Amino acid sequence: MPLQVAGEVLFVKRVGAYQAVTVVAPGIPELTRPGHFLAVQVGGPDSSMLLRRAFAIYDVKDRGVYGGTVEFVFAVHGRGTAWLSSRRQGDALDVVGPLGRPFRLPKTAVNVTLVGGGYGSAPLLPLAVALRERGCRVDVVLGAGSSDRLFGFLEAKRMADSISVSTDDGSMGVRGRVTDLLPEVLDRSSADVVYACGPMPMLRAVAELAAERGIPSQVAVEESMACGIGVCMTCVLPVVGTDGLTRMVRSCVEGPVFAGDRVRWEDVGSVPADAVGAPTGGHR
Ligand SMILES: Cc1cc2nc3c(=O)[nH]c(=O)nc-3n(C[C@H](O)[C@H](O)[C@H](O)COP(=O)(O)OP(=O)(O)OC[C@H]3O[C@@H](n4cnc5c(N)ncnc54)[C@H](O)[C@@H]3O)c2cc1C
Ligand code: FES
Repeated sequence: MPLQVAGEVLFVKRVGAYQAVTVVAPGIPELTRPGHFLAVQVGGPDSSMLLRRAFAIYDVKDRGVYGGTVEFVFAVHGRGTAWLSSRRQGDALDVVGPLGRPFRLPKTAVNVTLVGGGYGSAPLLPLAVALRERGCRVDVVLGAGSSDRLFGFLEAKRMADSISVSTDDGSMGVRGRVTDLLPEVLDRSSADVVYACGPMPMLRAVAELAAERGIPSQVAVEESMACGIGVCMTCVLPVVGTDGLTRMVRSCVEGPVFAGDRVRWEDVGSVPADAVGAPTGGHR
């Protein structure tokens, strides 16, 4: 059960093109698993911005001088994140979390490849810790537009068996996309499972590459959200169930983590005619 916490900003730090905010939010850390997200109130009490903004949880600490804390990393996108970027130590910040379904962890020590795009690597870093604790081999592939948009390189390097980097402009690692590097990493590490978080086109390409090799993937999607708690249906995407039927599934409660080969990537953003309950036909 998620908690709503009237929290307080403990630290704000700049990390390349991003900002990382640590919020005192007792109770949330104990419930959090890698892949969960927070819904953060923006704009203050008199704001017209009614909708909370979703952010993947990066780091949690369940005890300390200040009580439990939760940290997330964000890029300024529009009005809500611009407001967040002006928060300072001691400011109030109301957060709800942990939300969504986290990454599922393997039961045995398997070979795992993590693929992060931009700030999408933030939830993969605590996942890497959990996988290492299970004895997994962890290979990491990070990509971004430019070096200042790569998040968590040093942290990943410390814990991963190997790290490969790509940037669109070549400012760090190989010039190109993570998917240029991924086939070699999957083959070299004999990957048993792939976890990914990043922009939707990247997730699609990663899921397809993994599927071509018969490797299961789990991807954390970023669909626009309004309520974040399963009420409004803003965040739906077409997902194929074990019965072979496509359903419009709420990514805030049934995701954000999905099996990569279950998402109908070419139909994301629309309701396929053959989806259960689709107005243009489909199964009812
Ligand atoms: C599960 C999840 C995890 C996310 N994790 C992160 C993260 O770790 N770091 C980060 O920087 N961003 C993350 N995002 C994206 C972040 O929620 C948006 O950038 C943010 O909501 C933009 O708000 P805004 O007011 O600045 O922009 P505006 O465009 O003014 O926002 C308007 C509305 O559209 C929605 N929206 C706009 N862009 C997006 C988007 N790309 N994805 C989802 N909703 C959007 C917002 O919720 C808001 O209600 C995540 C989104 C989701 C769904
Ligand atoms: S955001 Fe409202 S149902 Fe998912």
